[in-house]
Amino acid sequence: MKAIYRLSVMVAAVATLWLAACALGPTIAPEPADSALKPAKAIFEAKCSVCHGISRSLGKNKVPEEWRKTVTRMQKKAPDKISDADVKAILAYLNAVQGSKK
Ligand code: HEC
Repeated sequence: MKAIYRLSVMVAAVATLWLAACALGPTIAPEPADSALKPAKAIFEAKCSVCHGISRSLGKNKVPEEWRKTVTRMQKKAPDKISDADVKAILAYLNAVQGSKK
């Protein structure tokens, strides 16, 4: 009986940790409604997960001008990894999935 009790405590602890991890934000990038943006999603996932998780971006909603500022600011941190074409694709993707909710 004791062993079963311990097991259920462990299961509850694992479930709590799992929920806590989920609360930190999405770590899977949402599919864009426009399938033409699929390659842009892949570029975003590859380039914007190098220094921090993609959840850093997916936790935010910005208007296009704000995303442009953020993404070009990020590009300046890694100019050898993020090209101007990448910025264009990433902006199209972020504006589609993480636009302002206002
Ligand atoms: C070279 C490392 C690096 C790369 C690559 C990078 N970031 Fe960042 N990012 C940072 C650092 C460091 C911070 C925290 C300091 C700051 O805000 O400048 C940050 C902060 C952020 C923030 C929170 C601040 C804000 O302005 O909202 C967002 C959103 C973000 N990054 C999105 C992105 C996106 C989108 C990409 C891909 C284009 C990207 N990052 C690529 C290093 C990076």
